[in-house]
Amino acid sequence: MLRVAVLLSGRGSNLQALIHAMSSSDFPASIVCAISNVPDAQGLMRARAAGIETLTIDHRRYSSRELFDLAVDKALHERGIELVCLAGFMRILTSIFVNKWHNRLINIHPSLLPAFKGLDAQQQALDAGVKLAGCTVHFVRPGMDEGPIIAQAAVPVRDDDDAASLSERILTQEHVIYPSAVKLIAEGHVRVDETRTIGGKVARRSSVLRNPSLGDL
Ligand code: GRF
Repeated sequence: MLRVAVLLSGRGSNLQALIHAMSSSDFPASIVCAISNVPDAQGLMRARAAGIETLTIDHRRYSSRELFDLAVDKALHERGIELVCLAGFMRILTSIFVNKWHNRLINIHPSLLPAFKGLDAQQQALDAGVKLAGCTVHFVRPGMDEGPIIAQAAVPVRDDDDAASLSERILTQEHVIYPSAVKLIAEGHVRVDETRTIGGKVARRSSVLRNPSLGDL
């Protein structure tokens, strides 16, 4: 079983999706701990309810990003973590930390990267007038929302969408592709080839690529 930690700052719906997926007996990974920089994050409550260890590492108690990241790194090592999943973790990690966890640190972002990096990706998509939005799971590299893409789902943008309605439609797909991506990694099917990942067999493509049917449009 691959030992996974989830880092979050808020709601934790992606954590919930991972918890749910990992409750299946054919999922070769388990969440060892959930770590938040925000003491009362809803995600921590979700983890506790599932019997998962929770840790708060409050960034306000650290005088620098480096010291905060060191505390997170220590907690991960103490628990033998093999894969770190960022799920709504609202702190920028230092490149020292990111490089230490090279190819063992993944993130979910609510856009079809490399479009619309950073905050408010769904509003950025609306402002740009795109017809397809979506979400991406990727390995983390030091640049913001950069790194080899593991899985993506496309989501239609409707004429009457606002940020809330589009975010909700994207979130539904986040909850599908994040567990799929973690499962593929845990099964050893994801190979990183410089700037991209290679997932192998055709049968696995449905795990890494989702797109709307015409009925959704
Ligand atoms: C998600 O939209 C995710 O893509 C982004 O932050 C949000 C986290 O939501 N990185 P939740 O806390 O998992 O519900």
